[in-house]
Amino acid sequence: MDTVFLNGQYLPKAEAKISPMDRGFLFGDGIYEVIPSYAGRCVGLRGHLARLQQGLAAIGMAMPVPFDELQAMIQQLIDLNGRGNLGIYLHISRGTDSKRFHAFPEHIAPTIFAYAFAIAPEPIPDKTKVKGYKVVSTADLRWQRCHIKSTSLLGNVLHFQQGYAQGVDETILFNEQGFLTEASACNVFIVKAGEILTPPLDHQLLPGITRQLLLAILEKDGNLPFAVRPVSMQEVRDADEIWLTSSSKEIAPVIEMDAKPVGKGRVGDMWLAAQTLFSANKYAY
Ligand code: PDD
Repeated sequence: MDTVFLNGQYLPKAEAKISPMDRGFLFGDGIYEVIPSYAGRCVGLRGHLARLQQGLAAIGMAMPVPFDELQAMIQQLIDLNGRGNLGIYLHISRGTDSKRFHAFPEHIAPTIFAYAFAIAPEPIPDKTKVKGYKVVSTADLRWQRCHIKSTSLLGNVLHFQQGYAQGVDETILFNEQGFLTEASACNVFIVKAGEILTPPLDHQLLPGITRQLLLAILEKDGNLPFAVRPVSMQEVRDADEIWLTSSSKEIAPVIEMDAKPVGKGRVGDMWLAAQTLFSANKYAY
């Protein structure tokens, strides 16, 4: 797990050096992706690269290398790091300037960094084997551009830490109107009376690739009722099931929120049905 990619070169992590004048370091001025791969196969790669391009465009940057080159680099990094259960972290910052000045500098080259890290094995759709997650909830205090997968993650870090400090796995967030946005590093789904619900995309949440894959898979299958619509705090509190989705977790069942059981306090049947479908179809996208 030691070979990283930096600006066109593959090298040992310890030898990868970036200037302290890099705007990623000084301003969090960059876009990132986390792409899961199992035994050499990526999940949702096309979606991740499309979101990367949209994120760069949203901060006035062009994709610095063609898609196929980026794809080849990701594959090479997976191969060089043993093709196990790997997350690929890919980070493109605006680059290194000679001075610290807020406006976008012209004529600097973006910094492209990627490394591989171990992730848990592919989730198995089995209620007895999956971890039941615990969460707390709080007011979403991040910025108005949560749809951009920015490397400026302090707002998310502070929310994640809120839960972590209380010994739970995640922090679920509600906007000022009392509606669900997402969690500090995951999207959120609930189940009520057999219907799967998740909030619509807007500036308040990341367009998660796992969320997108799950919705596409549910749509194609057509057997599990679902709706994309605003979800109130009361609906989350009354939910039969709550799920967290992210690239490294796929669909994670929540069994406790704010020290109270979610539904019956056990992993639910709808989770089993959804994760079964997801596991069977995730490589098709
Ligand atoms: N987190 N919302 C936020 C705020 C996230 O940071 C993430 C991902 C998600 C889920 O997106 P996806 O399904 O594309 O992974 C939702 C990544 C994994 C991270 O920052 O490590």
